[in-house]
Amino acid sequence: MARRRFTVTAALPYSNGRLHVGHIAGCYLPADIYVRYLRSLGEEVAFICGSDDYGVPVALTARKEGKSPAEVNDHYRALQRADFEGLGIEFDIYSGTNSTALHKRFSQEFFLKVLQNAHLEKRSQEQLYDPEAGMFLPDRYVEGICHCCGAPGARGDQCEACGRPIEPTLLGDPRSIITGARPEVRETIHWFFRLTDFQDRLRQWIESHEEWRRMVRNFTRGLLEAGLPDRPVTRDLDWGIPVPLEDDPDAAGKVLYVWFDAPIGYISFTAQWCEQQGGHWRDYERWWKDPECKIVHFIGEDNVVFHALMWPAMLMAEGSFELPSQIPANCFLNIQFPGEEEQKMSTSRGTAIWIQDYLARYDADPLRYYLAMIAPEDQRTAFRFDDLVRRNNAELVATLGNLVHRTMTFAHRFMQGLVPARGELAEADRAQLELVGRLPKEVCEQLEDYHFKAALQAIMAAAKETNRYFDYRKPWVLRKKDAAVCATTINVLLGTIKTLAVVMEPFLPFAAGKVARMLSCEPQELKWDAATRPLPEGRRLGEAEILFVKLDQPPEEPSVAVE
Ligand code: MF3
Ligand code: ZN
Repeated sequence: MARRRFTVTAALPYSNGRLHVGHIAGCYLPADIYVRYLRSLGEEVAFICGSDDYGVPVALTARKEGKSPAEVNDHYRALQRADFEGLGIEFDIYSGTNSTALHKRFSQEFFLKVLQNAHLEKRSQEQLYDPEAGMFLPDRYVEGICHCCGAPGARGDQCEACGRPIEPTLLGDPRSIITGARPEVRETIHWFFRLTDFQDRLRQWIESHEEWRRMVRNFTRGLLEAGLPDRPVTRDLDWGIPVPLEDDPDAAGKVLYVWFDAPIGYISFTAQWCEQQGGHWRDYERWWKDPECKIVHFIGEDNVVFHALMWPAMLMAEGSFELPSQIPANCFLNIQFPGEEEQKMSTSRGTAIWIQDYLARYDADPLRYYLAMIAPEDQRTAFRFDDLVRRNNAELVATLGNLVHRTMTFAHRFMQGLVPARGELAEADRAQLELVGRLPKEVCEQLEDYHFKAALQAIMAAAKETNRYFDYRKPWVLRKKDAAVCATTINVLLGTIKTLAVVMEPFLPFAAGKVARMLSCEPQELKWDAATRPLPEGRRLGEAEILFVKLDQPPEEPSVAVE
């Protein structure tokens, strides 16, 4: 079968803070699981990410920390990179929108092409202005009461409570973030993206994607029904990519809206990656302009508007790129501390568990496991550290780890550390082989549909069944009664563990690596297609290793301190 080709992206995090478990659960972990799975199948994949360096969020952090925005970018980009690496999230490239000349060029050319295609229009607009600070207040520079849902503290770009885009001049009781002043309204000129031009095409396109998650479809449908407003894609800011119209005095001092340039980063980073691999940057066209290549954007709930409406409309307006084929969005992951109500994870309020703090004490796999098991795939769920500990102990240690451990130690003690011969199969052996034989296909079907939680549940159910087989067969008794049957049992168990290693690798890459060493497997044997191929009889096994360690329930809540 011909290899399939995929461009997989995960939302570019703003380089203005550290990553917490909510970010990881939202899009980076599912994206990494998906990519590992595709690679195991032998598909061609480009896994693209990097930081979102421009815009108000970074400018505000710079102001607060007394640094330049570029210093803020570099500082947090490095921390984020280390977090991803520690968690085994392996992008092909992790760049940054402010770290490559290619990005500036792609963004400016994109803007000019959309202008040329007459989907951008220069208009005068009323904008909020802070007279004390002497500047306009785009996006998050202003906060007030949401004009859609009435929630307080809505930022000028998007309401966190209802997720809808905000029209700053309609905010109730608006306040400047900088001075706290009540802004006045002033005229300014901006380039508006004519989203209205794409209303119908977007509707058809979304209706044609019945396989998308309900949340993504419902949310975008609702916005389409309400009618899409044209939106300005330039800003009165000094932090961003300059509007590339040198001859137009109206463009002076204006930059591209961060949500205009950021998604273009997916494309420019792909070009940068092509170049890094010794190719030409133009090779990115294989990943963005070829209908044979599927484009998959992993995102969190708050990014749905931009990825399912604004960005596809931008791509339609530019005209030469393929549209995404999937936008797997997760809902928010809340957090619950002991004795407290479930609440939103928030960087500013410090109600989060930072990846850096977690990794300083614990292994990556238990977190990957827990986040995949509580994945907010179609509704919000809550992270509870005591629940992570409980599931680590009851599931990873007692089920998966125990199965591998007792099989390996038995083989070392009583089978001379070799893969024993598979003799005649009894009913129970056959049932076990069938069970595990079905597993790769089952997991595969779930993963093709982006059902990560269900896939992992299937794997754990199989591990549990295999422990039952072990208990039923009682190799410690068989050993004295019937050596051949005992050998067959251990052979079946080792084969099962190999299959488990293959299918769990996307979720638990570190543990899967250990199992591979214990079974002396070459990388080729761990490809998806080879998952159920039996281990060669007589192979020497590696040392038994501990897969997962038991965790203590924390006496106090884990650190949520900001560095
Ligand atoms: N930085 C944005 C956020 O954290 C996501 C940007 S995704 C991209 O919400 F498509 F714009 F790159
Ligand atoms: Zn709202």
